Formats: sequence, C-alpha cells, structure tokens
Amino acid sequence: MNKLIVSLLLTLGITGVAHAAGDATAGQAKAAVCGACHGPDGNSPAPNFPKLAGQGERYLTKQMHDIKDGKRTVLEMTGLLSNLSDQDLADIAAYFASQKGSVGAADPKLVAHGEELFRGGSLEKGMPSCLGCHSPNGAGLAAAGFPHLSGQHAQYVAKQLTDFREGNRTNDGDTKIMQSIAGKLSNKDIEAVSQYIQGLH
Ligand code: HEC
Ligand code: HEC
Repeated sequence: MNKLIVSLLLTLGITGVAHAAGDATAGQAKAAVCGACHGPDGNSPAPNFPKLAGQGERYLTKQMHDIKDGKRTVLEMTGLLSNLSDQDLADIAAYFASQKGSVGAADPKLVAHGEELFRGGSLEKGMPSCLGCHSPNGAGLAAAGFPHLSGQHAQYVAKQLTDFREGNRTNDGDTKIMQSIAGKLSNKDIEAVSQYIQGLH
C-alpha cells in the first residue's frame, strides 16, 4: 500500500461519522420505491441507474446523506429521500449491502487497457492503481467507505469518472481523491476502465 492510501485510511478512520446500525429486514420494505430504478434487490436493469446490491453499507449511507443534503446532485431522486430519517437510510443501506451484486461482461476490445489502468495505474501520469483502494477484485473496502465497483454498469461508472473529472461530482471529501485521479484519465481511459469494471468479479 502506498503512503497516500495509508494516510487516507487513517484520516477516514479518525474522522468517520458513526451512524445508527441498519436493519436489513426493515430496509427491504423502505426500499420498495427505489426498486423501480435500482431493481428490487438492487441489481438495476438499466445501465444509467447504478447497481446498489452488494455495495458497502458505509458508502451507501454516505451517498444517501449527500444526495439528501444536496452535496451530490441526482435529479432523478429529487425529493425521494427528504422524508426518510437517518434510521431509514441506515436500514436501506443494510438491505442493499446484504444483496448479491450481479456481474456484466467487458468489451473484449477495451478490457486490456482497462485492466492495465485498474491494476497498474499510470507511472507516467502519476496515477495510483485503482486496486489499492477498490481491491484487486473490485470489492472495495466496506469499513473504510471505499465503494464496491465490480460488476457495476460501465455507462454509470464512466459518467461518475467524467463527473469527478469535470467537477460535476465533488462529494469525495477534503482529499478530493477521485477528482484528482479522474483528472488524469482521458475519455479513452475512462471508457476502457469502465468496461473492465463491468466484467470484474
Ligand atoms: C427515478 C429513478 C430513481 C429512483 C426511484 C431512485 N434512484 Fe437512486 N439513483 C438514480 C440515479 C440516476 C443515480 C445516479 C446518478 C448519477 O449518475 O450520479 C442514483 C444514485 C443512487 C445512489 C448512489 C449510488 C452509488 O453507487 O454511488 C444511491 C445510494 C441511491 N441512488 C439510492 C436510492 C434510494 C435509497 C432510493 C429510494 C429511496 C433511490 N435511489 C431511488 C435514480 C433513482
Ligand atoms: C486512494 C483511494 C482510491 C483510489 C486509488 C481510487 N479510488 Fe475510486 N473512490 C475512492 C473513494 C473513497 C470513493 C468514494 C468517494 C465518495 O465518498 O463519494 C471512490 C469512488 C469511486 C467511484 C464512484 C463509485 C460509485 O458507485 O459511484 C468510481 C467509479 C471510482 N472510484 C473508480 C476508481 C478508478 C477507476 C480508480 C483508478 C483509476 C480509482 N477509483 C482509484 C477511493 C479511491
């Protein structure tokens, strides 16, 4: 692990906000309305709607709070979280985290470059590999809030990386870790690494 990751882990560990423990069974009922876009078990059928199944609880809770508070803009979800309490969000996060995420297939033409970036980063661009934080199989590091990526829709992943790069998604904390990494990726890099992630498991 490189120095950057270790110091980030420490920062997140110390400053991490404690949230109420979620109840997955209660969360299933509360998540009924979410299923229309994200799929009843969190395996969304549409490439622009992210899969939530198997995503880490801590990451999910943070994103829901960020969306609710307007720190991350998701127009499709306008007003949907306003009447949900912290306990409701914790329960929903526990429910989706307990589901099994499905995996897609990578475009064979792009997978080699995607794998190279994901596993090796880029020395030339001074970019760390993705696996240091998102783990070699893309499972993420749930306790640290590093999201699970494996099997996620390539179209959604590419949009997030572009949004981080262009400053349209800025909720990655004071370290701006994803904004700085995405800033080093070309459109071609983004397309390739997103395809690799879609087939990763
Ligand atoms: C009308 C469709 C729609 C509905 C209904 C909806 N969402 Fe979403 N949600 C989206 C879209 C689109 C995004 C991603 C937007 C983007 O590109 O950043 C998203 C993103 C998210 C994310 C961030 C995922 C990630 O990997 O970062 C979470 C968490 C989430 N939604 C939870 C919920 C919950 C909980 C509900 C129900 C209370 C819900 N959503 C209902 C469309 C929807
Ligand atoms: C130093 C740790 C670190 C490294 C290295 C890293 N990430 Fe991340 N990544 C994060 C964190 C933390 C978040 C969550 C930010 C937030 O809370 O919104 C994240 C979020 C993401 C997301 C959004 C996930 C979602 O569901 O919306 C994508 C996509 C992503 N990273 C891809 C990558 C790729 C591709 C690379 C390598 C090119 C990479 N990351 C390297 C820490 C890292």
